[in-house]
Amino acid sequence: MSPDTKPVTTRSVMEMKRSGRKIVSLTAYDALFAELLDQAGVDIVLVGDSVSTVLCAQETTLSATLEQMIYHGRIVRAGVRRALVVVDMPFLTYQVSIEDAKRNCGRVMQATGVHAVKLEGGAGMAPTVRALVDIGIPVMGHLGLTPQSVHALGGYRVQGREADEASRLISDAKALQEAGAFAIVLELMPAAVAQRVTEAVRIPTIGIGAGPHCDGQVLVLHDMLGLNEHLNTKFLKRYAQLADQVRDAVRCFGEEVRSGGYPDSAHSF
Ligand code: KIV
Repeated sequence: MSPDTKPVTTRSVMEMKRSGRKIVSLTAYDALFAELLDQAGVDIVLVGDSVSTVLCAQETTLSATLEQMIYHGRIVRAGVRRALVVVDMPFLTYQVSIEDAKRNCGRVMQATGVHAVKLEGGAGMAPTVRALVDIGIPVMGHLGLTPQSVHALGGYRVQGREADEASRLISDAKALQEAGAFAIVLELMPAAVAQRVTEAVRIPTIGIGAGPHCDGQVLVLHDMLGLNEHLNTKFLKRYAQLADQVRDAVRCFGEEVRSGGYPDSAHSF
């Protein structure tokens, strides 16, 4: 197998940091998009709990449920051959007790066939991460703007601007590494802080709104494709304008149906 068709594993993701090869990650919530991402060479497909805001028009990710993430995890996994698939554990499925976390993360792994789970939180979450890793569940961490804590953080604000917050992010990242996490998402923080975190740990960091010095980058697929027009933030780059194309195509279909132009003889039996 050539390096580009060999399945991505948690080990190969960690190796990418050592070799300096940037990690490419995007979200997916269904098999169709997951297959396209996989064919385009994405390394990590993240089944984000952003599904609740992006696809379900909820204000925050707090409403995502275990059943919802299992459903999306299973269909995303069905579309992927090469990429590593990671499922976000929803709010309250891993914070209440380590026993809960083991049972719920284990259920996600068993029911979906994905390769790893992602949990939000720093040093306080380290014992949970350790317990999961000890039973064979690979864990990705998530620091900075942790959307499940949006109300406690006072909104979707850049984290780590103050010196003490930046130091805390570094110690949180080290705690997750020591607990056995294989990678950490760094969300919404100054580039210089993400660089310090990235240099402080041996495991890869994957940034979103965290500047260019992370070991990889992740974006929400529907945002970067210009399908979701509700998010306007400095870090987001839109690589396509699919919402415009969808509206144009649908209008065109409507006009042709109303005028009798569709279906014509070429599209009829
Ligand atoms: O839920 C999600 O999509 C995420 C990414 C933004 C990292 O956690």
